[in-house]
Amino acid sequence: HKNLETMNGLMTDLLQNRFGRTSCMVALGGGVVGDLTGFSAACFQRGIKFIQVPTTLLAQVDSSVGGKTAVNHALGKNMIGAFHQPAGVIADVSVLQTLPARELASGLAEVIKYGLIRDPDFNDWLESNITRLVAREPEALEYAIERSCFNKAVVVAEDETETGIRATLNLGHTFGHAVETGLNYKLWLHGEAVGLGMLMAAHMSMLCGWLTADTCARIRSLLVQTGLP
Ligand code: GLY
Repeated sequence: HKNLETMNGLMTDLLQNRFGRTSCMVALGGGVVGDLTGFSAACFQRGIKFIQVPTTLLAQVDSSVGGKTAVNHALGKNMIGAFHQPAGVIADVSVLQTLPARELASGLAEVIKYGLIRDPDFNDWLESNITRLVAREPEALEYAIERSCFNKAVVVAEDETETGIRATLNLGHTFGHAVETGLNYKLWLHGEAVGLGMLMAAHMSMLCGWLTADTCARIRSLLVQTGLP
């Protein structure tokens, strides 16, 4: 659904129902809904407000924050889009209680990413609390989501349009996108591919002599404990 065709249908609905410049769109759902709504809000009448209400862990810690909005093209993922910041992001952890286990693990891959790219203390905390997160303890989830969003906000504030440091938020995504593309975006969830991609990146770093075998094993262990494939 994350394509121009769906977006065109949304535009028709907005126009037929006389939405205008002062309207505000609300994205209630996961990353696909957030991206589609965000990019539609960026384009409708040259840009209206929107609010993100992410209902997956991955959307709560990554895609709903930072203003990247896009739809896919047959020739590439997220190839048509805009930087358009939401007026607000409302992340209710209680919705995660009914999230399928695969979706939860997929979101945890992006949570782990923040520890690896810039927050070693958070990485230590994750290593001690990963079972609480997998068990969906609300307090642990709240802490992990808040800390993830804080880390993302700091990076985005420094480099909103990704001319530099924001690219660190794509850790593991190059390998991950290869997995997603190779599997035709069907078998694996985005976070699952990112989890494997981060492991591949860590492994490559180890082979290049930039990471010790011990650190690589720690990263693997943390990822495995989430239930990621
Ligand atoms: N998901 C990566 C970014 O927002 O830059």
